[in-house]
Amino acid sequence: MRSIIDILDLSISEIDELIATAQDIIASPERYAHVCEGKKLATLFFEPSTRTRLSFEAAMYELGGHVISMSDAGSSSASKGESVADTIKVVSCYADIIAMRHPKEGAALVASDNTSVPIINAGDGGHCHPTQTTADLLTIYREKGGFDGLTIGLCGDLKFGRTVHSLINAMSRYEDIRFVLISPNELKLPSYIKNDVLKRNRIPYVQTNNLEEAMPELDVLYMTRVQRERFFNEEDYLRLKDSYILTPAKLKEAKRDMIIMHPLPRVNEISVAVDDDPRACYFKQVLNGKYMRMALILMLLKEAGTL
Ligand code: NCD
Repeated sequence: MRSIIDILDLSISEIDELIATAQDIIASPERYAHVCEGKKLATLFFEPSTRTRLSFEAAMYELGGHVISMSDAGSSSASKGESVADTIKVVSCYADIIAMRHPKEGAALVASDNTSVPIINAGDGGHCHPTQTTADLLTIYREKGGFDGLTIGLCGDLKFGRTVHSLINAMSRYEDIRFVLISPNELKLPSYIKNDVLKRNRIPYVQTNNLEEAMPELDVLYMTRVQRERFFNEEDYLRLKDSYILTPAKLKEAKRDMIIMHPLPRVNEISVAVDDDPRACYFKQVLNGKYMRMALILMLLKEAGTL
């Protein structure tokens, strides 16, 4: 059974296919309004989420399907001690496809070994978050016209930010990509990603803690929240949480066609005064995420023979 655990589970041509389907849905939503009639998506969120869960649910409703949901791990059998494997074996009897978020790295992989329906990883701890990346890719594609030749600045919590990890993996497959990794020392990109993705694929990157200095060369600036829930102590979080705050003044040196992205939720990293800047794309990402999740649900249900 095909599941999507990591963004690299999708080939470049499948990403192209998802983008084409999403664009077609955007152009003619009525053609897709009934395609999943009678089908059920289960959302299993063992970790807080607003947009990702609602995005999956809205996606399934807009395809004409149904949603069953376990939104709060505290009220589920997980709190009685049930394993992820057992929960998935049970839920795959009820649903045609499952979107799951879990605080433990690797939980989605365990789920995919125990399912009879496709599983979509909606975030596993600080590891990865492939469907946020599909939203990011559609946004970059629509705003920049493609992926090759871009200099991408990633700023904030590069250590725990799973959306950053998945986006680096995804963008590393295109031509002439450069990364500028902007973070405090303590929140640098994990070395396994530097070694296995950037160095192995000979992708140029620089590490810096200075956002202003990096700004003029960027085509994409991807801001992230400091991931409070993954810190071992509150003191470190409080010291690091406001390391970067993007303001209109800091954007003065940016390219006129640079795009500003953020997976949301935003805490302090982007001042609300930036929202009116035409380069701000973070709310477009939200909408793009819903369309890419619709495209992904369709692709996986077709492959599974359910549609
Ligand atoms: C991200 C996540 O859950 O990792 N949010 C999201 O899915 N839109 C980013 C975050 O929580 O900071």
